[in-house]
Amino acid sequence: MSTGNIQKTLTQHIQDQQRTHLEATGHLSALLTQLGVAGKLIAAQVRRAGLIEIWGDTGDTNVQGETVQKLDRIAQDVFVETLTASETVAAMASEEENSIIEVNTHQAGDYIIAFDPLDGSSNIDANVSIGTIFAVYKRHGQDEIVRRDVLRPGREQIAAGYILYGSSTMFVYTAGKTVDGFTLDPSCGEFFLSRPNIRMPDKTRVLSINEGNEAYWPGWVKPFINKIKTRNNQDKRRVTSRHIGSLVADFHRNLIYGGLYLYPADARSPQGKLRVLYECNPLAYMAEVAGGAASDGTKRILDIQPEHLHERTALIIGPKNEVALAEQFIKEHS
Ligand code: AHG
Ligand code: MN
Ligand code: MN
Repeated sequence: MSTGNIQKTLTQHIQDQQRTHLEATGHLSALLTQLGVAGKLIAAQVRRAGLIEIWGDTGDTNVQGETVQKLDRIAQDVFVETLTASETVAAMASEEENSIIEVNTHQAGDYIIAFDPLDGSSNIDANVSIGTIFAVYKRHGQDEIVRRDVLRPGREQIAAGYILYGSSTMFVYTAGKTVDGFTLDPSCGEFFLSRPNIRMPDKTRVLSINEGNEAYWPGWVKPFINKIKTRNNQDKRRVTSRHIGSLVADFHRNLIYGGLYLYPADARSPQGKLRVLYECNPLAYMAEVAGGAASDGTKRILDIQPEHLHERTALIIGPKNEVALAEQFIKEHS
């Protein structure tokens, strides 16, 4: 039986990209491929979340006395185990661990990875889209891992991406040239290229912000949002509001449809809420490669020099001109 036109798989795409980089050693390809594997393993657990006692705060042990793991702990373990076994990373930083996770010397590789094993955890119990976000850096040298190997500005990333557990599972990543999206075909367990060379649209069709935080916002936010909303008139609705509360899913939708996401620093979160290393940096890098921008309000997200593993920042991410407009409002209101 003919299978028709077989689409490109994630593995094939990674290998093709490797061939175009003369300096490529193949180790980054191995790491990216294993990230795809980790994504499939987590997706399998996410898809069964309602069936296997991993919803919500069930406590530490179930009636059989077994440990009941929450989905974000499962995702964390899958990532650490898969990446350690891949022998491609030397150290990891995760939202779920206070300190750097070092890989033992005989399994250590050339890369450093920061990740949010499950982003949007508050949405798990309601079956709303969640995801895993990752940022990849080259290790500085073969010396012992120190904090500065991990606490690096996002502009030093060499790859970044996310796995989105939505109506379908998607693996979206960049190694610096293009942002490409792959959809998991659950019938054969393979990621196929479904959105090659994703470009961030220039226009803001979607505005994403948690308006429940209005009471805590700094002065510029309300007038800025109102300004965007005035683009709508009797003739046409140009902008609509969408906010999921899973940054990764909000970002993906905005990347596809054209949208601006904001999580400003506010009175409740004076440093901002979202984390630099494993939430903002990877998405900022992807946004820039796709033609968009990401700012903390005064500078590029990718230029932040983090001092702590779990450092937070304000985030404005979306079309370039809209991010610049927000920066202008901030300047005018300060
Ligand atoms: P996480 O689930 O990894 O802790 O991240 C949650 C983040 C982000 O995904 C989301 O957009 C944001 O926190 C939501 O915060 P609010 O509930 O304050 O809007
Ligand atoms: Mn998160
Ligand atoms: Mn998380």
